[in-house]
Amino acid sequence: MSDFFLDLPMRPRRNRKSAGVRAMVRETTLEASQLILPVFLHEDAEDQPLESMPGCTRWSLEGLMGEAEGALEDGIRAMVLFPKVPEARKTPGGEEAWDPQGLVPRALRALKQRFPELVLITDVALDPYNSDGHDGLVVDGEVLNDATVEALTRQAVMQAEAGADIIAPSDMMDGRVGALREALDLHGHTGVSILSYTAKYASAFYGPFRGALDSAPKDGDKKTYQMDPANAREALRELALDEHEGADMVMVKPAGPYLDVIARMRDATTLPIAAYQVSGEYLALRSACEAGWLDEREAVLESLTGIRRAGADLILTYFARAAAGWLREQG
Ligand code: PBG
Repeated sequence: MSDFFLDLPMRPRRNRKSAGVRAMVRETTLEASQLILPVFLHEDAEDQPLESMPGCTRWSLEGLMGEAEGALEDGIRAMVLFPKVPEARKTPGGEEAWDPQGLVPRALRALKQRFPELVLITDVALDPYNSDGHDGLVVDGEVLNDATVEALTRQAVMQAEAGADIIAPSDMMDGRVGALREALDLHGHTGVSILSYTAKYASAFYGPFRGALDSAPKDGDKKTYQMDPANAREALRELALDEHEGADMVMVKPAGPYLDVIARMRDATTLPIAAYQVSGEYLALRSACEAGWLDEREAVLESLTGIRRAGADLILTYFARAAAGWLREQG
């Protein structure tokens, strides 16, 4: 021992000295029940590995049942459904969105029957159904607000009737949360929740998802309804409106590049906050791990912990099942 002595009033390393102490002072938890699994489905009888999102699958109805069972075993409580609609059935009005015989309501009924405890979340927006590939109705190159909201109320009521527990409008039209709440209540679905995509940004990170569903806009971009990535105060304005209109939960999307938005919303609301680690975030991590540049387990759990630390209660992530498995191993 040297006689050099540092007189420190506080040594932060004492709280890091062993796994036991680190576990005692850990500020953020990550649990399978906080993860929501997004799933893709299609009409085909075969499950199809997704080229645009390696590691993900577009499920047949039967395949979806297996995925739901596995997710529940992993400790995941909730899934959100995204359908791929055949090009021939897409229309300018997106009518399939509220067809009770459509793919989503059929999947909802089958899932509810087999797995009554699974929380079913549905996306409300027209982009998978509409031949323009926009979340709303397009007339003369313009995405109409109020006419779209009316269409969305039909879609949401149909989804509630088919068994959705939580309706998640991802369209970013003005006034849709209030209109959906009113329509759901009018039809007797007072118990169906609304998880609003409150701050959904016009992000480059949705590219692989649009490839998975063939849902990219045919013309233009989504900047007249999705938010400008440069804005955070605007998210608080959307939040105030969504709270006022009756949202039960709010969402920030994407997650990783918008942790400040999550944190600011955390300070501004007592509602549960979800964050969506989107397809491009998934692929960025996944490809770096596949190349051997990052350790997948460490990097993914760190990214999810960061999103939780920023203030998200729930995380939608394509890594949900893998993460749940790692968390279980970790004990
Ligand atoms: C559509 C919708 C999108 C995503 C979820 N719902 C795409 C978009 O807005 O273009 C993206 C999810 C992802 O990238 O993982 N309303």
